[in-house]
Amino acid sequence: MDALELLTADHNRVRGLFAQFEDAEANADAGALASLTATIREELEVHTTIEEEIFYPAVAGGSEELSDLVDEGVEEHHVVKVLLDEVAGLDAGADQFVAKMKVLIENVEHHAEEEETEMFPKVRSAFEVDRREALGERLDARKGELGAPRLDDREDLSAEELREKAREQQIPGRSTMDAEELAATVDPD
Ligand SMILES: [Fe+2]
Ligand SMILES: [Fe+2]
Repeated sequence: MDALELLTADHNRVRGLFAQFEDAEANADAGALASLTATIREELEVHTTIEEEIFYPAVAGGSEELSDLVDEGVEEHHVVKVLLDEVAGLDAGADQFVAKMKVLIENVEHHAEEEETEMFPKVRSAFEVDRREALGERLDARKGELGAPRLDDREDLSAEELREKAREQQIPGRSTMDAEELAATVDPD
């Protein structure tokens, strides 16, 4: 899979977690808030790691603009990691916990949007599809090493199961995704 599709699928899975977090907050469900926060943390740790170890270094040389966007991306990841560390010390449901998580969600939404609208189109122009596919394979393999589901871990899911999981997981844009996109996006567990 093209690295850009794989990373966008990660973004949409996290957006789904954010939507679930907002529901849990509206219902004042501290248990759900705590478990969603743990899942969001795991997702963001894996995603920022594969970007910083593999994707960013691979694309930074594509152009001066890409190099600048990568530098900015690393700093935005840093802010998110600081917030995640601070949230880890707070009780789910405490006012400060919810406030920090809201800031974290805003930061990640802004960052993912910027990657998709500014960085990824430049990567698409600077690198041939073969390079992007090879990069996608490396990202997927690293996810497996980090304990996250790989693309292969979704291959047994039927079209029906994919749609059901995408609905439960509140994946945005799911109604227009094909089976491959859905499979890359849903959490299979
Ligand atoms: Fe990023
Ligand atoms: Fe990203």
